[in-house]
Amino acid sequence: MSETIALASDHAGFALKEVVKAELLSLGHRVLDLGTDGPASVDYPDFGKAAAEAVAGGKASRGVIVCGTGIGISIAANRHPGVRAALCHDATSARLSREHNDANILALGARLIGDEVAKECVRVFLSTAFAGGRHVPRVAKLGG
Ligand code: RB5
Repeated sequence: MSETIALASDHAGFALKEVVKAELLSLGHRVLDLGTDGPASVDYPDFGKAAAEAVAGGKASRGVIVCGTGIGISIAANRHPGVRAALCHDATSARLSREHNDANILALGARLIGDEVAKECVRVFLSTAFAGGRHVPRVAKLGG
């Protein structure tokens, strides 16, 4: 199913953001690109916030965010109610972030993983359903 995916990065994640953007478009999704637009130094909290607001506000159904490690931008995104941003390094963590945590934003560390692993994370994240069941009350305890 085609979705609108919010996409954001800082300067350290910019090149990988462009790779992810091409992958999302090739999968038939629409991309809401919230920047950054080049390699000039910027602050990752601004871009984590923009992606979080887009997802929490319904402008995008899900999001992908990228910084050097994925840590800072995921912390920023997770400060917003309704956002469950998961920092993933491989297909297994991407799958489990959906099955167990119903994550709605995928965070990637551009300095830690390569393009092919990142693209695999994106494909798995977007194609894996929340498992429900015992995970429902746990996700509910994370808050709205
Ligand atoms: C930028 O140098 C770097 O600190 C940032 O991309 C990220 O890794 C922070 O968590």
